[in-house]
Amino acid sequence: MTAPVSAPKKLFIKTYGCQMNVYDSERMAEAMGANGYVTTDRAEDADMILLNTCHIREKAAEKVYSELGRLRPLKDANPELKIGIAGCVAQAEGAEILRRAPVVDLVVGPQTYHRLPEMEAAARAGARPVDTDFPEEDKFERLPKGPRASRGPTAFLTVQEGCDKFCAFCVVPYTRGAEVSRPVERLLREARDLVERGVRELTLLGQNVNGYHGLGPDGAVWSLARLVQELAGIEGLWRIRYTTSHPNDMSDDLIAAHGEIDKLMPYLHLPVQSGSDKVLKAMNRKHRAEDYLRLIERLRAVRPDLALSGDFIVGFPGETEADFEETLGLVRAVGYHSAFTFKYSARPGTPAAERPVLPDSVLDDRLHRLQALIAGQQRAAQEAMVGREVGVLIEKPGRMAGQMVGKSDHLHAVHVADCEAKPGDLIRVRITGSAANSLAGRAL
Ligand code: SAH
Ligand code: SF4
Ligand code: F3S
Repeated sequence: MTAPVSAPKKLFIKTYGCQMNVYDSERMAEAMGANGYVTTDRAEDADMILLNTCHIREKAAEKVYSELGRLRPLKDANPELKIGIAGCVAQAEGAEILRRAPVVDLVVGPQTYHRLPEMEAAARAGARPVDTDFPEEDKFERLPKGPRASRGPTAFLTVQEGCDKFCAFCVVPYTRGAEVSRPVERLLREARDLVERGVRELTLLGQNVNGYHGLGPDGAVWSLARLVQELAGIEGLWRIRYTTSHPNDMSDDLIAAHGEIDKLMPYLHLPVQSGSDKVLKAMNRKHRAEDYLRLIERLRAVRPDLALSGDFIVGFPGETEADFEETLGLVRAVGYHSAFTFKYSARPGTPAAERPVLPDSVLDDRLHRLQALIAGQQRAAQEAMVGREVGVLIEKPGRMAGQMVGKSDHLHAVHVADCEAKPGDLIRVRITGSAANSLAGRAL
């Protein structure tokens, strides 16, 4: 007689924050396969709920506790339900979370989630484990491997993690630790595996992805440009992107790569945060506004159609109206395809948190003015695409019959009418119109 096969347990993961958390959530789901878990998108059905959290701004961190409040009734109804906190709030607050939220069964930081299966077993045995180490071992190599499921056409691949830059406002160096680059061979192996499973576009991830300096198979230290060049040789992989970059790590070979490697898409997320030299200095960004503008010029010299996006913080302590106007001036000078704008949020433990904050009304006013400027640029960039022919990697069916949706080379969402292509097809499309956050087009 064979032992009865137990039904798989269900894991619900809610992901906050950046793309690296998206990648990490996928890895955690695979790892939990070793404990007999499959994922569910319904929290009510779950045997375990994992919140993969973000600590970047106060609002992001507070979301965790309000979500835990909403999960409480599920735990009351099902005492067997286990609730885990992963990600950057877990790293920053550790055991404090257990004190503040009795519903939480385990806390795991971003560098130790390969230990999650053991931790879940310990939690089932009645413990409340906390692991926020920065271990020596490579978590990616230690992750239990689940079945090789087929994949959609796009995927993230973490190549670098952590940050040594210590911008005065930012928690990432504390939550993700020092900059570590994964070795080239492991990345090539993972990339080939993803391509075999259907991936056509890879976005290489790192908190400072362009600071990548991984050990190559030849024993030399490889740059991101060299890694991209090697990945571009993988047959069946059609597009490569990378994010997020720091202006000071935009090396000559990476700039050149934008002109030389066809598979490297003409889109770059290059945060600058402010256009004021005084504020940049106070932020510890270690470059001037002028340096950023020269960098953009050099990039556009090799790739004139490069689409740029950025991150901006308004209301950094000490930012005057004149400083803010310099930010508006920089935005006008660059011309962004899109950009993320944030109100400064004081984060415990960061140097800037010691400085007096500006009134919230000032932050709101600056945020709205900056957003209006960027929205205009985004609209203009989209409208400039109308009439042009672009490549679109089809991702999924659209809402209308016969319609398919995908992304252009410049990362615009494109709705293609009467489209016979399947997810994973890379097709040529004529852009026929521009809507609020997407383009419309016709397959050629
Ligand atoms: N590693 C990336 C992204 C860091 S977090 C980088 O260096 O660009 C993403 C963005 O959040 C930052 O670029 C910044 O604009 C914003 N951010 C970080 N800390 C913040 C804070 N304390 N308040 C407001 N915005 C913040
Ligand atoms: Fe944070 Fe600055 Fe590092 Fe980016 S470069 S993760 S903003 S400290
Ligand atoms: Fe947030 Fe951590 Fe990413 S703080 S932005 S989840 S690195």
